[in-house]
Amino acid sequence: MRILAIETSCDETAVAIIEVTKENGTQYLKVLGNALYSQIKTHAPMGGVVPMLAKREHAKNLAPLLEKALNEANLLTLSTRPITGELLQKIGPLFTHEPELLGPTVQLLGSIDTPAIDTIAVTSGPGLEPALWVGINFAEVLSLAWGKPLQAINHMEGHLLSALLKEEQPGIFTIETPKLPMLALLISGGHTELVVMKNIGDYKIIGSTRDDAAGEAFDKTARMLGLPYPGGPEIAKLAAVAIEKGLKLEQPLPRPMIKSDNLDFSFAGLKTAVLYLVKKRGTLDNETKMKIAREVQEAISDVLVAKVSKAIEETGAQTIVIGGGVASNSYIDRALTEAVTTRYAGSTYLKPAKGLTTDNAVMIGLTAALKHTTTTRGAIKANGTLKF
Ligand code: KG4
Ligand code: ZN
Repeated sequence: MRILAIETSCDETAVAIIEVTKENGTQYLKVLGNALYSQIKTHAPMGGVVPMLAKREHAKNLAPLLEKALNEANLLTLSTRPITGELLQKIGPLFTHEPELLGPTVQLLGSIDTPAIDTIAVTSGPGLEPALWVGINFAEVLSLAWGKPLQAINHMEGHLLSALLKEEQPGIFTIETPKLPMLALLISGGHTELVVMKNIGDYKIIGSTRDDAAGEAFDKTARMLGLPYPGGPEIAKLAAVAIEKGLKLEQPLPRPMIKSDNLDFSFAGLKTAVLYLVKKRGTLDNETKMKIAREVQEAISDVLVAKVSKAIEETGAQTIVIGGGVASNSYIDRALTEAVTTRYAGSTYLKPAKGLTTDNAVMIGLTAALKHTTTTRGAIKANGTLKF
């Protein structure tokens, strides 16, 4: 089964072509083509993602990225069949809100054969709605022009399932069959959730943030330290130097809700504590910034470890996975690995392979392959707050 997957929920424009096969009971996922454009440079001067800029960038990049992914997958066959008449009349209105995408799409579709893919998967939420719509409309047009079925995919489900991909060789993964129930810690720029998976498609959120997401806590505190967006990797870099040099803040920062009798999170208090500290200190020298970065990372990590441990105890989870941009933080990953493997020796801890923690289209294709759902053409709606 070959899937073309499209992801435009936030500030990464991604198109991937994956192939899922089954041999002797094992499922394999091969990445045939993977084209991704990160818009970080566009949004960094604004200190965060600007939805309308994200939409514009997606519209600019989707057609070239599709061409790149098809080419990489050896699925690009040149031919001449100009898009005219009835088809053009149907395509035009689909791009009413992103007219700049019409020309390049019609040109590309008019110069290539229908590629040998089975379905088209696209993220329908959660995320920034203007950004989501660009990907959805693009997918609708491809589906119409090529006569391929559509699959609407939940971005968070993509993050949740991505840890099941075990890289065997570059671009070739086995899809692990997890021991159930599985517990997922999803930590990204917009979400902090603990989710129990009883089966693929059967999820329950058992804990979530009451205010800021973990990634947001990294981004906002980084900003207070004068670091560029996105702040997570910047805090991680400074924290690593602080650890290496043995620099530590004298006064610890709060670990909000670490001992609360539930699985919810709150990071706003941590952000406020950093704000007070920064105000009190006035201008910050580099060493102080490093100390604060280290303490922020440790505070977030401590809370995540405590909540994951509590969740394992409450759910009897056999498999623990992490996903989302913050999952690429190696300090947090190490802390979780240690906690899970030492305290819950019977359970398995899985994390996404490199490049699959942050937003990508491979995880959207994987989810489509595991779910087999199809959505009627014209029926996909962007849903910024889509839940499990
Ligand atoms: O999943 P993602 O790529 O996009 C969303 O769906 O939000 O996550 C982005 C978030 C940002 O807040 C970013 O600062 C954070 O992930 N992040 C990190 C690291 N890399 C990315 N946070 C901490 N440490 C990192 N190494
Ligand atoms: Zn994400």
